[in-house]
Amino acid sequence: MNLLRQVYRNPFVEIVLLCAVLVQIISGLKLFRINRSIAKSNFEQLHIWTGLYLAVFFIIHVSAVLGGRFLLHLDTNFYFGVAGLNAFPSNIFFIPYYALAIISFFGHVASVHSKKMKRTIFGLTANRQAEIIFVFGIPFAVLIFYGLTNHFRGIDIPEAYN
Ligand code: HEM
Repeated sequence: MNLLRQVYRNPFVEIVLLCAVLVQIISGLKLFRINRSIAKSNFEQLHIWTGLYLAVFFIIHVSAVLGGRFLLHLDTNFYFGVAGLNAFPSNIFFIPYYALAIISFFGHVASVHSKKMKRTIFGLTANRQAEIIFVFGIPFAVLIFYGLTNHFRGIDIPEAYN
């Protein structure tokens, strides 16, 4: 995070990133409304529902990060991100909240892939490729959760984040 912050927390890059997120939220909510009644196939359905979840997630997530930084004056570091995951009962909210965000991200990419991809790869149809992308999101989310909770050793969260 310290390394990547040099890029995404650069004021210019961060403003572009946050504007992109805002555009995603606004266009995503609009597209959800337009496509809701015309989405037929499984991937079309997955596309609109993961898009809706990502839009709502972005609103909550980015408000929390900016609120933590500018209102609570916290360093919104790793501990900020994982404090809720490592405490009961807040983890009842944070586990599905983050898991659905990661899985929605893969589901969203998979839906676009199934729509745009025209070629088979190693004999796999575009739909099968998309299924693989989507399913890959599940072990990926489990791996991230392992890193964020470190189930066997536990994580010492500094008091300020509790
Ligand atoms: C387990 C899941 C996640 C955790 C624990 C997490 C945690 C965090 C933390 C701690 C920050 C603050 C970064 C900083 O101050 O340097 C942050 C920012 C952010 N996150 Fe996440 N995040 C998660 C998932 C996601 C997902 C799935 C997305 C997008 C699809 C996302 C998009 C963002 C964005 C756009 C920011 C704002 C970056 C900025 O302020 O420049 N996050 N997240």
